[in-house]
Amino acid sequence: MKTILITGGAGFIGSNFVKYMLNSHPDYKIVNVDVLTYAGNLENLADVEGNPNYVFAKGDIVDRPFIADLFDQYDFDTVVNFAAESHVDRSIEDPEIFIKSNVMGTLVLLDEAKFHWQTGKDDNGYPTYRDGVRYHQVSTDEVYGALGKTGMFTEVTPIAPNSPYSASKASADLLVRSYGQTFKLPVTISRCSNNYGPYHFPEKLIPLMISNVVALKSLPVYGDGMQIRDWLHVKDHCSGIDTILEKGMAGEVYNIGGNNEKANIDIVNLIIEDVGEMLRSGKYAIDNDGSKISKDLITYVEDRLGHDRRYAIDNSKITTELGWEPSYTFEEGIAETIKWYLNNQEWLEQVKSGDYQQYYEKMYSKK
Ligand code: NAD
Ligand code: TYD
Repeated sequence: MKTILITGGAGFIGSNFVKYMLNSHPDYKIVNVDVLTYAGNLENLADVEGNPNYVFAKGDIVDRPFIADLFDQYDFDTVVNFAAESHVDRSIEDPEIFIKSNVMGTLVLLDEAKFHWQTGKDDNGYPTYRDGVRYHQVSTDEVYGALGKTGMFTEVTPIAPNSPYSASKASADLLVRSYGQTFKLPVTISRCSNNYGPYHFPEKLIPLMISNVVALKSLPVYGDGMQIRDWLHVKDHCSGIDTILEKGMAGEVYNIGGNNEKANIDIVNLIIEDVGEMLRSGKYAIDNDGSKISKDLITYVEDRLGHDRRYAIDNSKITTELGWEPSYTFEEGIAETIKWYLNNQEWLEQVKSGDYQQYYEKMYSKK
């Protein structure tokens, strides 16, 4: 029986991970801490409410007394930190909250883990810890910066973040590394490429495009649309993190990616085709028969500032050392994801209401 603190478990990847862990490890207790920002949504977890191995605690990872109390209360073995501000465009508009949540929040979690897990000191003055504890930081390939036409990010690629978001994630990674080096805290870091799948907040490329095609709204493609992202299904990200928790070595960084590079415009064209075809089949209870869906919906808009041109992950360390493999092909993953959005229009409408609607008007009225 392990007790795991998962932070940010009401967001896109975190909620998928909470469910993944409850299913894969029925003997684990999961405590999900989330402050419920605009991106945190307890609806994402409706199907695990009532599970005796699952607890939700609303709170901010920056709030040190709150996190300290939780460690006292639950005696965690493992921390998996997903909690973060996660959207590059928002970080360009307002970076400060990214530093607070992503950097200060990570510091608080590291400190509390270190304090609560320490058993003493070794002969050289380094802290010693309870057996089996682990702090895992969920990071991103964006900390490596941007690639040109060739090459891939490996775990030894120098950190060179270009956006305030990726700079905050890189800062957090460096703090995690330093707690591993200076205090010998058993830490691991995973750096994953772009995720897609169910419960993805519709400010990000794939769910935004699906949502707009269904609503027959224009599809805002930044710049020339030839930027490349390396897409991974969220469930494969979850299995990658679980593999690192089980088999990964303390002090190590592991890239997670599925060798699946796509240009943004190709993704947008695929979504137009697939959503059009699915709606024309008449199988979905949606007030759009697909007849007006076409590439005419695409609108090229002003490019993102500092827009990273290409990301590509070399995943050979996690595949060869830990035996992890992605299970989804992009074709099956994207078709399943689009169907999920078509079947969950109520969820989409609910998350698009309120604050997000104001953000959408603000961002896209300028472009
Ligand atoms: P998300 O924005 O969907 O969810 C983030 C969650 O964190 C939300 O539920 C939010 O309420 C919570 N949160 C934010 N600040 C908090 C705070 N101070 N205290 C407690 N909770 C807080 O993000 P996501 O896409 O699920 O990403 C999760 C993690 O994975 C992030 O750390 C992100 O950097 C990383 N990541 C994401 C991707 C991707 O493609 N989405 C890829 C690689 C890594
Ligand atoms: P996004 O989903 O925001 O992820 P990230 O910036 O973290 O990679 O964006 C993915 C790509 O899609 C990125 O190159 C920016 C581009 N993009 C658009 O062209 N239009 C949009 O409306 C959005 C949100 C993103």
